[in-house]
Amino acid sequence: MKKIISANKKTDPFILTIFGASGDLAQIKLFPALYELAAQKRLPSEFYVCGFSRTKMSQKEFRATFKKAVKDHSKIKVDGKILDALAKHVHYYAGQYKDIDAFRDYHNYIHEMTGKKPKDLPHLAYLSVPPSVFRDVAKNIAETRESKNEDIRIILEKPFGDDEYSAEELFHFVSKYFKEDQFYLLDHYLGKHSVRSILNLRHDNKILSQMMRGTEVANIQITAVEDYGVKERAGYFDQVGIVKDMVQSHLLQILAMVTMQIPVDMDGENLQRAKHGILSAIECPCDVKNLVLGQYKSYRSESEVDKKSKTPTFAAMRLFINREDWYDVPIYIRTGKKLHEKHTYVVVELKKFPFQKKEDEPNRVIIELQPKERINLTLINRQEDVQRTQDITTTQSIACDVDGCMPEHALLLLDVLRKEKMHFLSFPEIIAAWEVVDQVSELMQREKVKVGKYADGSEGPKDQNKLTALDGFRWYDVHGNE
Ligand SMILES: NC(=O)c1ccc[n+]([C@@H]2O[C@H](COP(=O)([O-])OP(=O)(O)OC[C@H]3O[C@@H](n4cnc5c(N)ncnc54)[C@H](OP(=O)(O)O)[C@@H]3O)[C@@H](O)[C@H]2O)c1
Repeated sequence: MKKIISANKKTDPFILTIFGASGDLAQIKLFPALYELAAQKRLPSEFYVCGFSRTKMSQKEFRATFKKAVKDHSKIKVDGKILDALAKHVHYYAGQYKDIDAFRDYHNYIHEMTGKKPKDLPHLAYLSVPPSVFRDVAKNIAETRESKNEDIRIILEKPFGDDEYSAEELFHFVSKYFKEDQFYLLDHYLGKHSVRSILNLRHDNKILSQMMRGTEVANIQITAVEDYGVKERAGYFDQVGIVKDMVQSHLLQILAMVTMQIPVDMDGENLQRAKHGILSAIECPCDVKNLVLGQYKSYRSESEVDKKSKTPTFAAMRLFINREDWYDVPIYIRTGKKLHEKHTYVVVELKKFPFQKKEDEPNRVIIELQPKERINLTLINRQEDVQRTQDITTTQSIACDVDGCMPEHALLLLDVLRKEKMHFLSFPEIIAAWEVVDQVSELMQREKVKVGKYADGSEGPKDQNKLTALDGFRWYDVHGNE
């Protein structure tokens, strides 16, 4: 059965090395996450956080950077005493990622810092560096430690490769040095309470487990739209585009969570296996009719974007799952930038009774993931005497709103400290998702799929409606501000 983890249990002593500690992810997400854990009293009395990057900084400077980042980016009010106490656990080592001698020296540094042999403490290595640096860091950690025999946990953030081949290559490379269970492959969407709720709601409620079956569902719609453009990620985004950036991990993970058979025992292995079962059964969307692409009008004027760029900033696609239960159920996904609002939500539209009229609204289960976190159930009630059909929508918040709720990176770090893999990905899942995305990329190139312009702040290309119309459906728009 599902493990119940005591809410306030402290973790065991550990050392956390953040490679790339001078970067954005560390400062905006990881340092505030550590503060959250300290404020919630989840950290043990003995732990060491050490930044490792090339930038030369003294211990004092790094601690000041750490504190400033926590103050600037924490979502909760920062208590100076807690922050000062936390900062005493924070250290810094300046070294080159390629330099094995730096890693040998770092090994000695850990010994000095902790008074223990490094192998005597669980070691979390957070690779908060660009993917081009992953291999050097993984190899050098491994070559200065007994990597497969020690308790070393490697945390990698997406993107994992940029196609199926490179993801497989990365997997084979790192497998030389570490065992598969030492990897914590992180997509921060899976740290969100609302995304975790998809699993928990389906697992614990018969009403949902019965409704959300392929035999009962008419179609599924997954929408993740943003009201801002590519911002400072423009250079990276222009190389990869929206399909690799958003669909490959975030949206296909949500698709898998909504459609997979929920294991009774929701541990990491069972969940990853069930998600992989879905991801590897997604049919090739190999026809232009299944894909709509767009680009917001002002995209080419963003700095670092090629003035002739054809990179899509909007994609909508129609997918099917080659499994008996989901065989003929269309799944529509769409995602885009610089649209009318920021909103991520899933609509599960149920089949109607055969006797119902075409114009009768279907029942829907809607799960809103961000910024509002809510579940909505839509029903209809016929009132014959006044000859009307009343639409009823019941809405309930699924937000975590009690003391102890933490943001995604804090929850995910806590999971790694507990060796809990429920909310991490496996390499087979990643490779299966790349296979789908590679097929879409191939289709885009082979058929030179049109990338239509859409107005900034609009709802995206009108052609997206053609996808749902293929099956006689329409997008069901849910607005986050309602
Ligand atoms: N930022 C986010 O919110 C976010 C979200 C999802 C995933 N990620 C992933 O998380 C990782 C870290 O993200 P980030 O935004 O923190 O990255 P970043 O700021 O570009 O890089 C982190 C640090 O890595 C070092 N670095 C940068 N470019 C390098 C290069 N070419 N060669 C060697 N070292 C280099 C720099 O430190 P030194 O020069 O001091 O060594 C830099 O401060 C990336 O893999 C990214 O794709 C980030």
